[in-house]
Amino acid sequence: MFSAEIYQQRRARLAKGDAHGLLLFVGHVDAPMNYLHNCYPFIQDSSFTYFFGLSEPGLCALIDSTSGETTLFGDEADMDDIVWTGELPGLSARALGVGVSRSRPASELADVLRVARKNGTSVHYLNPYRAETVLRLAELLDAAPDAVRAGASPALARAVIALREIKGAEEIAEIERALEVTREMHLEAMRMSQPGVVEREVVGAMEGIMRRRDWQLAYPSIFSRRGEILHNHGHAQILQAGDLVVNDTGASADSGYASDITRTLPVGGRFSPRQRALYDIVLEMQETSIAAMKPGVRYRDIHRQAARLMVERMSSLGFFHGDAEAIVDSGAYAIAFPHGLGHQIGLDVHDMESLGETLVGYEDGDQRSPLFGLAYLRMAKPLRPGMVITVEPGIYFIPALIDAWQAEARHSAFIDYAVFQQYRDFGGIRIEDNVLVTEQGSSVLGTPIPKRAQDVEAAMQGN
Ligand code: GLY
Ligand code: MN
Ligand code: MN
Repeated sequence: MFSAEIYQQRRARLAKGDAHGLLLFVGHVDAPMNYLHNCYPFIQDSSFTYFFGLSEPGLCALIDSTSGETTLFGDEADMDDIVWTGELPGLSARALGVGVSRSRPASELADVLRVARKNGTSVHYLNPYRAETVLRLAELLDAAPDAVRAGASPALARAVIALREIKGAEEIAEIERALEVTREMHLEAMRMSQPGVVEREVVGAMEGIMRRRDWQLAYPSIFSRRGEILHNHGHAQILQAGDLVVNDTGASADSGYASDITRTLPVGGRFSPRQRALYDIVLEMQETSIAAMKPGVRYRDIHRQAARLMVERMSSLGFFHGDAEAIVDSGAYAIAFPHGLGHQIGLDVHDMESLGETLVGYEDGDQRSPLFGLAYLRMAKPLRPGMVITVEPGIYFIPALIDAWQAEARHSAFIDYAVFQQYRDFGGIRIEDNVLVTEQGSSVLGTPIPKRAQDVEAAMQGN
């Protein structure tokens, strides 16, 4: 939790934005796993965390954009709560800790909203992405769930995105704190990735490092010798000499700030020449992308530049033929790089995407490409100082995709399917860092985690 002044400033800036009326924020409630009192670890809604900093379930808050006044709504712990889960400071003390001087019982919120609506005051709220939040809003606004979903405020979403996407120094420090632990996790994975080890043993060791701090994952760990499956959450395979393993794992700090790091490891500690050739292409895509990042540059253009570089380098190895620009324009490149170059990161690993992926990543009026591959580019708009973005190019050999495109001779003027077929068991490579856009350019956050091939090999050999 930051100082009360930080939350006050954030709310004051929001109140001056384009959403006028009452700005309603519904915090999360506990999510039961299988019965009411056996719950998943509590994760607060990120916008609630951003403006109110409180991470207990069952809270709501209202900002009146006209008066600038904020009210926190919640219930005091009763004796049952105290007996079973311990004492908690009173609601007003918790509110004061984040600079909110008014607090009221949760049961009063519906009446406040009813009176406001009767008086013609607009009530804005963010897209509710959890069913419990939809139902709470339905009660609060006397509306059906479908109407609640349809009624989320684009004006409030835009105003929240404008604030959250420019990170303050205190937020950068939290992302870097998360990255320190993530770095430890990745170094441990490098040491452990030897032939005969089961993927879940490495995953367990990595997650143990984080759990010892009582932290949570920023997203389910991806650690797989089948790295061509982009979000492969299976961990049951035995590592074999000659495998490449994609390790995409990141912790969230106790403040909620995420990290999102990928490294690709040669099991046993040495890249083969053919792995090394493609690994170095992915690294060059990543490093040239990071070097190209500066205010005003569209991230879509950096994605295209990375795709073009990949095509040029892979053409030298025989994978593609023809004009590199035409191969990028056609979408043929996506047979090897079928996802976007990156996304914003902050309190969410895919920051703010619950508010609308296109609203977060694209300028007003900008169309998302329908092309396979480019359609998954989540961040396309111009960079601004203070944004934190992942840079995560990859090269993958997805047998089902290669076979399907070959069967229909898709882009066959550009793609040499015979060469792709020779790599159908190769797996995938991804390298991902979290990068701050600065006034002058960009800066990779956190203490460096080995990524040059020789540095990865050294770390895997315990050096
Ligand atoms: N870890 C998920 C992603 O890289 O987007
Ligand atoms: Mn990742
Ligand atoms: Mn990512």
